[in-house]
Amino acid sequence: MKKSAIPTIKDIKDLKGKRVVLRLDFNVPIKNGKIIETMRIDRAMPTVEYLARKKARVIILSHIGKDASSSLMPIVRYLNKTMNVGFVSDFRTEEARKVADGLPEGGVVMFENLRLDDRETENDSEFSKYLSSFGDIYVNDAFAVSHRAHASVVGITKYLPSYIGLLVADEIKNLSLALKPKHPFLFILGGAKFETKMPLMKKFMKIADHVFVGGVLANDFFHDEGIEVGKSFVDTYSFKLTPLLKKGKIILPTDVVVKNGNGNKTPVKDINELSSVDRIVDVGPETIKNLAPIIKTAKLIVWNGPLGYYEEGFDKGTIALLKAISESRATSIIGGGDTAAVVEKLGLNKKLSFVSTGGGATLDYLVDGRLIGIDAIIKCKKRK
Ligand code: 3PG
Repeated sequence: MKKSAIPTIKDIKDLKGKRVVLRLDFNVPIKNGKIIETMRIDRAMPTVEYLARKKARVIILSHIGKDASSSLMPIVRYLNKTMNVGFVSDFRTEEARKVADGLPEGGVVMFENLRLDDRETENDSEFSKYLSSFGDIYVNDAFAVSHRAHASVVGITKYLPSYIGLLVADEIKNLSLALKPKHPFLFILGGAKFETKMPLMKKFMKIADHVFVGGVLANDFFHDEGIEVGKSFVDTYSFKLTPLLKKGKIILPTDVVVKNGNGNKTPVKDINELSSVDRIVDVGPETIKNLAPIIKTAKLIVWNGPLGYYEEGFDKGTIALLKAISESRATSIIGGGDTAAVVEKLGLNKKLSFVSTGGGATLDYLVDGRLIGIDAIIKCKKRK
């Protein structure tokens, strides 16, 4: 089946009165009961609004946090600023059934954190069946968790006619541009964990014209090359990076911001001048300047992972690069997670072509254009 042929909610003929189990990903950071980033929630709203407008009865499922300890209540409060959304604090009770059955046409209710029940992450079939019993139709609009074989993502598609929502359709449409790229194509990879990012690196070494590497991943290259990185963090992994450099596509930072324990000073140093006490915390201004001509001529730029420790305030490199990209004519696709958080903080969303809502899901999708949760929708046998 072609990607564009994945059935979406727009393909459902009559939604009036239908019970729709809608999986969303409202796993957003919350501090002291306050939502820090709302992008994932806001981007899911067009699907909720569409279903309500078509007079479906909508039961929203989501997880939040790694386990049962977090609540979706702050999200319900946020949603209630613009629409009426009910809440069920334990979806395993008779109360849940009563509330769901009593939903009026166009009504919306949200169940508490699915990870209250371990069977969710175990993809338990009885649990999938139980969740499916609340609906006539299942819709996955939770792109960011579609790389997980969980009961509400994969198992449930065995029991209900299944479709993707508008957000998942939008993610696929835009992220697919990175898989059949226009050239010149600049790929930017930052953050850490080479072990998990290697498949992505290999993929884009083949299809990109330039690959700029920042963050801890750049430290890894320097370290493998025998360049002094002082106290900088380096990953552990089971392969050698230096052979990748021979292909001539990789661009590494030429200058870096370091912290070296002498008060609050964070000097910029040439990469070949680091001492044993220096710790790399960001890329330097010369590195960003050197990228300018490539950014200027690029037709496509895809970026995943920040360049420095932005959570400790070392975000100048990431911000400068984001600004340069936002002023370029290239189609720009920003992978989710930490990079998306900086985009949101700067209010640059509208100046970039696409910002993904996924973290791990975006990384996985970019490797081969597939996710287990989306495959499950494609393969669903319950659709007529
Ligand atoms: C995410 O934030 O990447 C998704 O919500 C998936 O969360 P998980 O890694 O806890 O499964």
